[in-house]
Amino acid sequence: EWTPVNIVTDAVEKVREQVGDAKVIAGLSGGVDSATAAMLVHRAVGDNLTCVFVDHGLLRQNEGEQVVEAFRRNSEVPLIHVDARRRFLDRLAGITDPEAKRKIIGEEFIRTFEEEARQIEDARFLVQGTLYSDVIESGTRDAARIKSHHNVGGLPEIMDLDLVEPLRNLFKDEVRVVAAELGLPDRLVWRQPFPGPGLAIRIIGEVTEERLEILRRADHVLQDEIRSAGYYRQLWQSFAVLPAIHSVGVMGDARTYAYPIVIRAVTSDDAMTADWARLPYDLLERISNRIINEVPGVNRVALDITSKPPGTIEWE
Ligand code: XMP
Repeated sequence: EWTPVNIVTDAVEKVREQVGDAKVIAGLSGGVDSATAAMLVHRAVGDNLTCVFVDHGLLRQNEGEQVVEAFRRNSEVPLIHVDARRRFLDRLAGITDPEAKRKIIGEEFIRTFEEEARQIEDARFLVQGTLYSDVIESGTRDAARIKSHHNVGGLPEIMDLDLVEPLRNLFKDEVRVVAAELGLPDRLVWRQPFPGPGLAIRIIGEVTEERLEILRRADHVLQDEIRSAGYYRQLWQSFAVLPAIHSVGVMGDARTYAYPIVIRAVTSDDAMTADWARLPYDLLERISNRIINEVPGVNRVALDITSKPPGTIEWE
């Protein structure tokens, strides 16, 4: 019978069978999947688990600190926090191609993670929060693959680690049920999905500290308004995109020539297909006004009204 308690008991049992007394490493991304996978494994193996959080600097406003704080407050699992912001930015300098960005971030992530993980003696397993939908999307059909998801594959081969994937049979909504059952905080349980390469694939063109700051601020306003209006949970994802164009505007008596921000909000069950969200006009108006008033470097807001297919959810 499918109950949250049964799923947890079952998953914990399976993990125990798989890893025995071996040491296990889990990477935390800040999202619900990796946290739920880690907590399940923690139930199964206790002190044999160490978590690693690599802050690649491509997270949303205050997200890095929130992740670490929430985890330390809610569990006694040892957590290694790696500040790798500089090295990711350095490697992304001058890179504009979407797949090149993904590849660099994936590689750099593996390298950083590996350096830390090597210090955890005789670790034999690596936890990944792979979901059923990830398995389907990234799957075996490499040729048909639309985008390379950076959280699938790579590290285990290099480090000779076996994968533990306790969420492999679950859909996102089931993961949330399990997360709540495990006592994870609401803010994490209901966090919208966020891609591994982070804001880098929502910045069209080059990723720079300055452009990251613009997107972070715009995204923060958007999240704030979406939450206050009570829409956050109904939406699969809602976020801002920073294109690599400028347009002319007027502020006060002065001509401006600045970036637009694109708002993307979608509903979906599993990210395989998605529909653009019909947000109320007054909410859109508030978002637009606030972004233009509060984010220097932005003078226009546009709304993405493309479903998936033909669009993908992310812009890159
Ligand atoms: P797309 O853009 O392909 O996205 O419609 C489907 C879902 O996957 C997320 N996404 C990623 N997640 N690494 C991730 O961990 C990635 O490289 C990646 N690319 C897209 C996206 O946010 C959406 O939820």
